[in-house]
Amino acid sequence: MRLISICNHKGGCGKSATATNLAACLAMKGKHVLLIDLDPQCTATDAMGLDVDNLGRQMYDVMVKEANLKDVVRSTEVRGLDIAPCNMDLKVAEKQIESQEGNEYILKEQMASLDGFDFVIMDTPPNIGPLTLNSMAVATELIIPIQCEYCSLRGMSQLMNVADMAEEALGNRPKRRILLTMYTRTNIGNQVVEAVRSHYGEKAYRSVIPRNIKVAEGPAQGKPVVVYAPDSTGSVAYQALAVEVLKDE
Ligand SMILES: Nc1ncnc2c1ncn2[C@@H]1O[C@H](COP(=O)(O)OP(=O)(O)OP(=O)(O)O)[C@@H](O)[C@H]1O
Ligand SMILES: [Mg+2]
Repeated sequence: MRLISICNHKGGCGKSATATNLAACLAMKGKHVLLIDLDPQCTATDAMGLDVDNLGRQMYDVMVKEANLKDVVRSTEVRGLDIAPCNMDLKVAEKQIESQEGNEYILKEQMASLDGFDFVIMDTPPNIGPLTLNSMAVATELIIPIQCEYCSLRGMSQLMNVADMAEEALGNRPKRRILLTMYTRTNIGNQVVEAVRSHYGEKAYRSVIPRNIKVAEGPAQGKPVVVYAPDSTGSVAYQALAVEVLKDE
């Protein structure tokens, strides 16, 4: 089972778009995939068409240890893709567990009861708080989306240092990959791609996700772009990413 945390403490860099679309693409390629929403903003839950106000048991219950992970998992409209959803209650769990000893390993303990999945894809909030650390503690891989703009470049080394420190503290060294997102064919877009490739080499995926309005429209329809607009440039790029991820065993 490959456990992939989609993380970057910078907001709005495409974490949720990547989590939902990569999860959907892998499922459409015949893999059994679980998408775990660990962000109280619940973008991934919403984007998969679930009613965030009527979830029943969800990741809040898992993180405060009142439910087993496998009991909050449900299917989605994408065949092969299940979801462990959340809503804003998860923010309360974050506060509740913050001061507990060993709170970074709650998800890891819960994951032990899970079987039958090829991939677990975790969407995380834009901070390095307890929820992100829980995903980093259990992950076998990190995918760090980087938006193709100048300020992302400046934040890169700081981001890598934070990830190094978190990994050191957690005693887990997942493989690290970088995904360039929201690319536009502009000077700055090309400069960011070149800078990331020259600095991080093979760690950066060949696939680059373009800025494409269909990626942003999908969630409003409760569908990942690969379902909502399968032939769009955003969809094609996420499908190519899934192929790369599959080769990256
Ligand atoms: N490739 C893309 N093209 C166009 N819009 C995109 C693309 N990827 C994401 N978006 C849009 O950009 C915004 C931020 O994306 P997303 O929610 O995936 O980022 P995030 O990193 O999860 O944000 P947060 O840190 O708040 O959780 C959203 O409105 C999303 O629909
Ligand atoms: Mg998000």
